[in-house]
This record gives sequence, structure tokens and C-alpha cells, in this order.
Amino acid sequence: MATVASVGIIGGGRMGQAIARRLYAQGISVQVWNRTAERLQGLVAEGIPVASDLPDLLRAHPVWITVLNDGPVTRSVWSMPGGMAEYATPDKVWLQMGSIDYPTTLALAHEARRRGLRFLDAPVLGGPTDIPAGRLIVMAGGDEEVLEAVRPVLEALSGRIVPMGPVGTGTLAKLTSNLLLAHMVVGLAEWLSFGQQVGLDPLHLWEVVKHSKLYNLVFEAKFAAMLEENFQPSFALQWMAKDLWNILEAARQFGAYAPVAHTMAVLYQAAQNHGLGEDDYSAVYQVLRLFSRGT
Ligand SMILES: NC(=O)c1ccc[n+]([C@@H]2O[C@H](COP(=O)([O-])OP(=O)(O)OC[C@H]3O[C@@H](n4cnc5c(N)ncnc54)[C@H](OP(=O)(O)O)[C@@H]3O)[C@@H](O)[C@H]2O)c1
Repeated sequence: MATVASVGIIGGGRMGQAIARRLYAQGISVQVWNRTAERLQGLVAEGIPVASDLPDLLRAHPVWITVLNDGPVTRSVWSMPGGMAEYATPDKVWLQMGSIDYPTTLALAHEARRRGLRFLDAPVLGGPTDIPAGRLIVMAGGDEEVLEAVRPVLEALSGRIVPMGPVGTGTLAKLTSNLLLAHMVVGLAEWLSFGQQVGLDPLHLWEVVKHSKLYNLVFEAKFAAMLEENFQPSFALQWMAKDLWNILEAARQFGAYAPVAHTMAVLYQAAQNHGLGEDDYSAVYQVLRLFSRGT
């Protein structure tokens, strides 16, 4: 099996930091760069190397991981002065792990390959609390040779790596997965809000779900969050809004009929506009309560 000398992580947000900790704990040499350097103080205190200068990180590591907000931000870090494009060479591999849109994935893969840089879109299902246990699921889009080159990195993060097909299919699989996740969380929010509005005890309602075929781990975590109105973010609501708009863009491109995705996008956008963007994505429940009569 291939070995990987070291990994440079571009983006030290919630996911980037958790990925860095996991790789470090698994004995893989890592370094992290973040636009806002102060955000990495926790990693520094744990002895995990950080880079204050992006070009230093880009020069030093044969594998780059991006895990940034969205397509436009990822593109800007690629093309900015001193950005990734200037250091792209055939001896390096770019693992794009953020949840970005499909057209940007294809465009960046194309630009990377023009410089000889190998590219794999490898977005993940699972969040910062799944990473310490290696429980992410990786959806990989790209050539088998590229996947094999970075397999040790992905295996350190993930119990399951699912090759989806050519470049872009990892991104499409991630959008498809988050469409299901949005359905589940919006469904749970509407179930709870409706039940409360008609005067039922949420704990009695939960007892029914918990012991039925409806039960799952997403409901378990998010029922508690909604009931306690504790929306400490694991996955920020604004990123689910972004994913839903990216799903609709892909639906238009491919001709997929996804009417409920549209409803959920405008619901999530309303939640974000209402100031809930930095809360957990389960805070969409707040919007349903807000618009229920007398609540
Ligand atoms: N959290 C989850 O459960 C989860 C799960 C799967 C996938 N994802 C996806 O992973 C990605 C990151 O999520 P996250 O939860 O880690 O978000 P996050 O904590 O908000 O981190 C976002 C990262 O993007 C950086 N960034 C934003 N604007 C930038 C700019 N203009 N230039 C350079 N860097 C910029 C941020 O840097 P600053 O600190 O300087 O702002 C930070 O490093 C998103 O695509 C998300 O959808 C998240």
C-alpha cells in the first residue's frame, strides 16, 4: 500500500481541526493553515503543527486537503495570489473534502489537471463528533490511481470509502446524502412542532418514535436539541442552506424533479435570514415554531 509523507490541511474550521486531530492521532504528519490564525490556538496547544503562511504549507506537503465553506471560497483560495494554483505540481494530490457545488468541483478539477495536479473530490458524511472515532464516510470521485495514492489518509479518517465514479460524482453523492439529511431533520422539526401545536406531550410522542421503525440516530440527536432548544452547532445551519441551493442547481442541470428540496431551501434560507445561520442546522425547528399560531 502507498504511504503518504505528509498532509497540508487548508481550512481550520470545525471539520478541518477535527480532521487534523484525527490524522495526527493516527500518526500521519499534518500541518494546518487557516485564514484566521487565532482559530488554531487549540491545535497549537495540543502540539499539532500550523502554518501562518499558506505558500509554506503548499510547498511542504505532497497531499493537500481543502475543507472550506463552499465553492466560491475554495475557488478563491485556489486562485488568489500565493494560492494553491501557484504551487500545483504533478507530484501533489488535492483532496477536496468540503461540501461544494458541482460546477465548481468540475472547474477546479479541470484547472488542477491542467497543471498536472491530481484531484479527488472526497466530501464526507459525518461531522466533527464522528471524526475522532474514524466514522466518516468518504464519497470519492476521481481516478482509481489518485484514490490509491491517498488511501492511507482516507482510511485514517473513515471506516468506509465509497468510490462513486469520475471526478464530480463524490460531490454529487454528498449533495444527494444531504438532501436525505435535510428531509429527515425538517421532517423531525415539523413532527415536533405540529405535535406541540396540537397539544401533545413531546416526550410521549418521542416514546412512540423511539420504539418504532421510525427511530434512527439523527432523530435521537436532533430531538434532544430541538426539545432543549440547544442549537450549539456541529453543522451550521448556513451550510445546510448552501447545500440545498447547490442541490437545486444540480437538479436544474440534470433535470431532476425535486420539489421538496425547493421548499426546504427557502425554509433554510428564511432561518438563515432570521439570524440562525451560525446555529446548528436543527434550528430550522425555530422557524416552524415562530410561524405557528400563538407561539
Ligand atoms: N460540520 C459538519 O458537520 C460538516 C460535515 C460534513 C461536511 N461539512 C462541510 O465542510 C465544510 C466546512 O465546514 P465546517 O463545519 O468546518 O465550517 P466552519 O467551521 O465554518 O469552517 C469554515 C472554514 O472556511 C474558512 N473560510 C471561510 N471563508 C474563507 C475565505 N474567504 N478564505 C479562506 N478561508 C475561508 C474558514 O476560515 P475562518 O476561520 O478564517 O473563517 C474556516 O476554515 C463545509 O463545506 C461544510 O458544509 C461540514
